[in-house]
Amino acid sequence: MWNRKDLVGLKDLSQDQIMEILELAKAMREKIDNKEARKDSLKKFSVLTLFYENSTRTKTSFTMAAEFLGADVNDLGISTSSVKKGESLIDTAKNLDQMGADIMIMRHGMTGAPHLIAKNCRGSVVNAGDGVNEHPTQALLDMFTIHEHKGKFQGLKIVIIGDIKHSRVARSNVFGLTKMGANVVLAGPSTMITSNMKALGADVTSDLNAAVKDADVIIGLRIQLERQKAGMFPDIREYSQLFGINKKLLSLAKDDVIVMHPGPVNRGVEMSTDIIDGDNSLILDQVKNGVAVRMAVIKLLMEGRKNNGITN
Ligand code: NCD
Repeated sequence: MWNRKDLVGLKDLSQDQIMEILELAKAMREKIDNKEARKDSLKKFSVLTLFYENSTRTKTSFTMAAEFLGADVNDLGISTSSVKKGESLIDTAKNLDQMGADIMIMRHGMTGAPHLIAKNCRGSVVNAGDGVNEHPTQALLDMFTIHEHKGKFQGLKIVIIGDIKHSRVARSNVFGLTKMGANVVLAGPSTMITSNMKALGADVTSDLNAAVKDADVIIGLRIQLERQKAGMFPDIREYSQLFGINKKLLSLAKDDVIVMHPGPVNRGVEMSTDIIDGDNSLILDQVKNGVAVRMAVIKLLMEGRKNNGITN
């Protein structure tokens, strides 16, 4: 029985809770495939999206997932809101909470922003990315995609390559995947990896060839230029030569390796175009699975609210 009010990260979820989300997502994915996504919508409820940072996939798929489940979805357009008049995050959230949203889906540049809002609001909060901290639903959709193709997590070698330091996607994946028994290797230039990632249970290396050898899964990450304060590599061309994912690198992995990327991709920088569009790539499958996973998360949170008698 689901009884968590919010989903702010994978750090505190148990194996069972992760499996519960992934199993429900499988049922949601079947409904989407059978054009039945809207079939068993919930009793009317209300979802609010609050994105302080840009988004294409995450925001749209949350909106569609909520609509498939029968929610009314409203978006606080940050750039036209009173945030621009200097209203604080907590005041903004508390005011919106009074309007009665059941679920608030939030992206913010500050680590811990959704955790703060979750503590102060009756609405359930879903973290859609907080700074460099966590992006739980991205990791869940990555895990769903891996499980769909490999049928397990235990013992898989999963390599995450690129700008690890700035990646909330990498952190959530490390939390989730290691919990499920996968071996996670983080690879990238030493300027883009923090040593504390090792303490999270992943292997850390700058030796890309060794990292990719016999890999079952390769996840590429975007170079997050907007978060980099000082230059972390001499130039983009050199980065792609040394750390770009290309055919030659892929040949070191297992024959049935799958290649993923959370998007948006800098084509030709962290990954070559033939890999992005190639046979091993599941990048667009990830996007499709994102809707199913977000439906599952919203459904479970609504169940949790009911089980705990929380109304808004
Ligand atoms: C990621 C994000 O915003 O954290 N994108 C996403 O949600 N699909 C990764 C990125 O921006 O590079």
